[in-house]
Amino acid sequence: NDNQTALIMIFGATGDLAKRKLFPSLYRLFEKNKLSNKFAVIGVARRPLTNEEFQQSIKDSVKSASENEDRIEEFASHFYYHSHDVTDSDSYATLKNMANELDNSYELNGNRIFYLAMAPEFFGPIALHLKSDGLTDVTGFKRLVIEKPFGHDLESAKELNNQIRTAFSEDEVYRIDHYLGKEMVQNIEVIRFANAIFEPLWNNRFISNIQVTSSETLGVEERGRYYEKSGALRDMVQNHMIQMVALLAMEPPIRLNTEEIRSEKVKVLRALRPVEGEEIHKYFARGQYGEGTINNQSLPAYRQETMVDPNSNTETFVAGKLMIDNFRWAGVPFYIRTGKRMETKSTKIVIQFKDIPMNLYYQTEQQLKPNLLVIHIQPEEGITLHLNAKKAGTGMEATPIKLNYANKGIDGLNTPEAYEKLLYDCMRGDATNFTHWDEVALSWSFTDKISAVWENTKDKSFPNYASGTMGPKAADELLEQDGFFWWPVT
Ligand code: BG6
Repeated sequence: NDNQTALIMIFGATGDLAKRKLFPSLYRLFEKNKLSNKFAVIGVARRPLTNEEFQQSIKDSVKSASENEDRIEEFASHFYYHSHDVTDSDSYATLKNMANELDNSYELNGNRIFYLAMAPEFFGPIALHLKSDGLTDVTGFKRLVIEKPFGHDLESAKELNNQIRTAFSEDEVYRIDHYLGKEMVQNIEVIRFANAIFEPLWNNRFISNIQVTSSETLGVEERGRYYEKSGALRDMVQNHMIQMVALLAMEPPIRLNTEEIRSEKVKVLRALRPVEGEEIHKYFARGQYGEGTINNQSLPAYRQETMVDPNSNTETFVAGKLMIDNFRWAGVPFYIRTGKRMETKSTKIVIQFKDIPMNLYYQTEQQLKPNLLVIHIQPEEGITLHLNAKKAGTGMEATPIKLNYANKGIDGLNTPEAYEKLLYDCMRGDATNFTHWDEVALSWSFTDKISAVWENTKDKSFPNYASGTMGPKAADELLEQDGFFWWPVT
């Protein structure tokens, strides 16, 4: 059934995520008739607001994000507001009554989704209250959706998980990694498993290395307080970057269902070579942005940003070499790099194939270029295959050519936003594109070893890359030592 019925409670309903992503995404589902008329949303947040004020904020948020507003009044009428104190049982009791009433009046079959779009320190206490105050006693399904960060390290993630698991079972927990909702991240599997020309080559006999870059031009913005304790390793590598690597490296699942796919991803994470102690600088490089210019705008250094320590040791850039010690990938480096205030906003994956055994075209003006498969995640969506072909003319020279496929603009429709897809998946009960606890735990245990070293050694070179560049020199050296270089992403 395409048409979903549930009561959605959004904790943190006055926050940035709710306004920028969740409300517009729900509206698009509503517009496409993927949400039935039997749905209601309770916005939960601290500040006092009337239902009318809250509905107005819904309309504002939808208007700023979508072109079509035809059904905006009807949509907003499904929204209700509850001013909440997360530590007070009485407040949960009021919320429960409200939920029961809406459940009856909208005929929601007792289906409930609890979406925690707020600071992570409240995840545990809220989950405990939801259970002890009876909000999870439902006749339909109950699901918990949580945003990252899921803990700060393995220890805190375990603690959080234990609290959540008192109220929800693992298959009721939907841990968001919004990269898994991106169209082209989801396309990795199809490109790999639906094409006879790739799957046979997808291993250490034919691939020399894989490069995953996710660069941003934005700096830390107003998130200094969070970011100072997080840094790029926790903010991007522990989740998005490692998830992309898992999708690139996993074995073909027996079937395309949640359990099979997740278990293949988990196996990749188990095969990830741990990097620790002295070894770290051979595998990882960190960076912190200094002053610089992007689009003719001069920008301050990280250490000058608000809520940032003027002597901060926090990394805003990470480059790493991941080795997956299994039969398929032994010897193939997976290079990752991500950072803030870089030259361009772009996420791309480059798969570099090994050179052919002998070059017949060596006498030509240039050496043969290796074959590359580039998966463009954002802002462009598509794939490019780099090949060599004959240069037009009388000689037998080879020249590089590109085959291009752009995912966007084919039928004039924008591809759905990550959050739209993930919300829809959650309503249908499909957890495939959410992170399982085992994946979270294995990722933390990998990055914790790196944090342990970085936090205890001050990087005296910080700031070591200028805003508007592709990161510190050490990131290039990481590949140079293996005889490779970063393929340009711009
Ligand atoms: C978030 C990080 O998870 O991902 C942010 O917390 C980062 O720091 C963002 O900016 C990047 O997401 P996207 O979709 O813009 O690439």
